[in-house]
Amino acid sequence: MATQQPATRPANPRFSSGPCAKPPTFELNKLADAALGRSHRAAIGKDKLKAAIDGTREILGIPEDYRIGIVPASDTGAVEMALWSMLGARKAHMLAWESFGAGWVTDVVKQLKIDADVTTAEYGQIVDFGSVDFDDDVVFTWNGTTSGVRLPNGDAIPADRAGLTICDATSAAFAMDLPWDKLDVTTFSWQKVLGGEAAHGMLILSPRAVERLESYTPAWPLPKIFRLTKAGKLNEGIFRGETINTPSMLAVEDYLQALDWARSVGGLNGLIARADANAQAIFDFCDANDWIANLADDDATRSNTSVCLKLTDLRITDGAAFAKGVAKRLADEGVALDIGAYRDAPAGLRIWCGGTVETSDITAMLPWLDWAFHAELNAQSIAA
Ligand SMILES: Cc1ncc(COP(=O)(O)O)c(C=O)c1O
Repeated sequence: MATQQPATRPANPRFSSGPCAKPPTFELNKLADAALGRSHRAAIGKDKLKAAIDGTREILGIPEDYRIGIVPASDTGAVEMALWSMLGARKAHMLAWESFGAGWVTDVVKQLKIDADVTTAEYGQIVDFGSVDFDDDVVFTWNGTTSGVRLPNGDAIPADRAGLTICDATSAAFAMDLPWDKLDVTTFSWQKVLGGEAAHGMLILSPRAVERLESYTPAWPLPKIFRLTKAGKLNEGIFRGETINTPSMLAVEDYLQALDWARSVGGLNGLIARADANAQAIFDFCDANDWIANLADDDATRSNTSVCLKLTDLRITDGAAFAKGVAKRLADEGVALDIGAYRDAPAGLRIWCGGTVETSDITAMLPWLDWAFHAELNAQSIAA
């Protein structure tokens, strides 16, 4: 049994699925140019906010006629703004295959009380997009961060749909190809794939989403931080960096740095390649070891960011305690931090593979995972 500790350690043990590892070149002093103590409505602040929007468009390849806004309350804020502002005009269809998608179902069914179909899949599976009627407004999470199951592509979404597609892409943007022509509302937060700071969400609207905002007024009241229109017209200022309320200029500076780093690794293609290489190292490890497997049932849906793993050894008596024990050993050794499965997900591990993680750190960590598994198994048999 491999109870000997490996000789090398990852240089960076941060594998959290959010906030995620900062870009490898990050240093606090790189934020020295932040417009601190200045109004975000002054030219310096507005320029930085606009640069954040423009950089997002450039790197993600977002079409010129799509609006990009910086909004409050991170990804949750961006998604809820869209749900509260746009749903109710037609029937909704909620698709969920893990915890965050399930949260949006709760919003729509229990809070907004909208006429909605709900289709869910178990952890490890995905709903069948082929059976969805896209004349409804369809809400889904591109990459299920807590199950490690992602939509492989947008092929099942028709270009000529009548409904809107509202996509939470927070753990997908900057790591996966997002088909903009298939997405009407797309959201993400800075703290995810680019390793930015939490606080602000990004809200990306297709022309059809704007049309909905300008032609439909929900029956319920909207708080100020959800209001995207003024007198029935889109509040265009939001999409030029005139935020609804005060943003953190420190977080903005940090995001600008992260965008610079993204350019330096080859933009979106470089980021996708980095995430793919990281995830592949873990997939190979699973193939080589019969005690661990990807939570995703179908290889085509395996995430390249939030890779979720189950421990399948039949000798394990208490799966949840065992997985926690493995994660704790790795954290105590300082070789892998924050890799326990999400609290609502099946017992196991979740290792972030987004582009800010170095493949060399993944490959240095994996022998430690082997060590921790066997150490935990030994401890279990001694306790029995
Ligand atoms: C898919 C998904 N949606 C929403 C959220 C919530 O994001 P935030 O805390 O940035 O609002 C997360 C966070 O992990 C997520 O992974």
